[in-house]
Amino acid sequence: MSATPALIVAIDGPSGTGKSSTSRAVAARLGMRYLDTGAQYRAATWWMLHNGIDTTDPAAVAAAAGKPEIVSGTDPSGPTITVDGTDVSVPIRGPEVTGAVSAVSAVPEIRARITELQRSAARSAGPGIVVEGRDIGTTVLPDADLKIFLTASPEARAARRSGELAGTRNAVTLEATREALARRDAADSSRKASPLAKAADAVEIDTSELTLEQVIQRVITLVEERQDAKRHATA
Ligand code: DC
Repeated sequence: MSATPALIVAIDGPSGTGKSSTSRAVAARLGMRYLDTGAQYRAATWWMLHNGIDTTDPAAVAAAAGKPEIVSGTDPSGPTITVDGTDVSVPIRGPEVTGAVSAVSAVPEIRARITELQRSAARSAGPGIVVEGRDIGTTVLPDADLKIFLTASPEARAARRSGELAGTRNAVTLEATREALARRDAADSSRKASPLAKAADAVEIDTSELTLEQVIQRVITLVEERQDAKRHATA
């Protein structure tokens, strides 16, 4: 029997669809690498805020786009993210970064730089990689072996997101969460540069009525089918 082929898997969709938990679990169970591209945009945003750049001024963000040195660790059992050597995994989840990240990630110079980091991580991932984001299947890795687009109803997404934040100092009401998600989706889907979009050849999974484990199992089945197909194609 030939070795398991290394696959590149793109998982896109808005937040609150279970994208991160699913992507990370699939990578861990199948021995693949894992890249959270939202964390990279958040890290760039953290750097801009930390260095006093006006994140509502696209020209100022563009001029500084090349400065932050963003490094992602792709082990799914403990993904890491540093900017200029500083661990930013906690502050990038805070409300300041969350409120500014859509504007920063809409700047083409930021996208060009981070897209290059993402392609390089995918190229160098020996055992294959699960890359999650908004534009992975459409723009970053259009030749990915498998593309998945996760969706969920606004109610399910808001409930999941506020469940994640409950008990943290970022906790907010369900209604506020739903409004914040809708605002961020509208910004991420309507921007000119590489908006959130489903690739024509992506498999769509609506996660509203599914448990996390059910979503993970569906994705694993799809990955294994592609591995078999690739094994036969190269046998
Ligand atoms: O997945 P997340 O919520 O951590 O992503 C944070 C923001 O980053 C999101 O509002 C849009 C942006 N993003 C993007 O523009 N492209 C990606 N591939 C991933 C995230």
